[in-house]
Amino acid sequence: DWTMANFIDMEVDKIRDKVGDRNVLCALSGGVDSSVVAALIHKAIGDQLTCIFVDHGLLRKNEGDTVMHTFRDDFHMNIIRVNAQERFLTKLEGVSDPEQKRKIIGNEFIYVFDDEAAKLENMDFLAQGTLYTDIVESGTETAQTIKSHHNVGGLPEDMQFELIEPLNTLFKDEVRALGTELGVPDEIVWRQPFPGPGLGIRVLGEITPEKVEIVRESDAILREEIQKAGLDRDIWQYFTVLPDIRSVGVMGDARTYDYAIGIRAVTSIDGMTSDWARIPWDVLEKISVRLVNEVDHINRVLYDVTSKPPATIEWE
Ligand code: XMP
Repeated sequence: DWTMANFIDMEVDKIRDKVGDRNVLCALSGGVDSSVVAALIHKAIGDQLTCIFVDHGLLRKNEGDTVMHTFRDDFHMNIIRVNAQERFLTKLEGVSDPEQKRKIIGNEFIYVFDDEAAKLENMDFLAQGTLYTDIVESGTETAQTIKSHHNVGGLPEDMQFELIEPLNTLFKDEVRALGTELGVPDEIVWRQPFPGPGLGIRVLGEITPEKVEIVRESDAILREEIQKAGLDRDIWQYFTVLPDIRSVGVMGDARTYDYAIGIRAVTSIDGMTSDWARIPWDVLEKISVRLVNEVDHINRVLYDVTSKPPATIEWE
């Protein structure tokens, strides 16, 4: 009968048969799907797997270190971290259109991955965390195309790899169960959805290092307080956004003229529609106080109370 342990045994055999003594490359983003696929393939072939983790500088606070800690130190995987912040920021300079930003980040991701992959020898396979639902949905144009969804980790165009997609019969909840069985930590297995372009589409308009820092710090505070309040599994996705709005405030005796930060928190099944999450007032108050006190250049906090539709979950 079908159990997760049986599934792992079967897939491990299949992967070993397919790969033989050759090598597999994997683009690890730290998301659920790529993490679980890496863990599964690593279980099957160990050092014949190499992962490339591209840090585009638009990740959440400590995210890159967590990924490295988990997979390099705990799993002992071959994993290469590419610190490409400068490369992405330079490409994004002066760009404020959301779709343009997505395109640049998606393309640059592929170039960086390609450059890094080119340094490696004898890579025959490329592992991908494609799920059953990805296959089903890609056949039809869904409402998702309102925004171009580059899942970071798209394929290099002239790739000569053979694909390995061991998750392509699974649904998301099964992938989580598989991840847990493989020892992937809850922090990753239960991670909320995070867009490929990362914080790049949460700094509205032009991206600057200062603005990325404001979003990163505020997001970390929001996540900490949501977790402390025990709400992290009830709210489907929660994050902060930085609109290009400054307003007047007062701090001590001094007038301030600084940014407003938005809190976006939604309940949803699949991200196609959503409702705004009713975060208790006292939790919101704590978050608001901390944001203004601890994050430089924030003097006002906004709460987004719009459902999807008509709004989208992200602000860009
Ligand atoms: P929207 O904003 O369209 O988001 O309501 C629906 C879900 O998709 C995520 N999202 C993205 N994911 N690349 C991604 O990989 C993207 O460009 C992108 N844009 C939005 C969003 O976070 C939400 O979970």
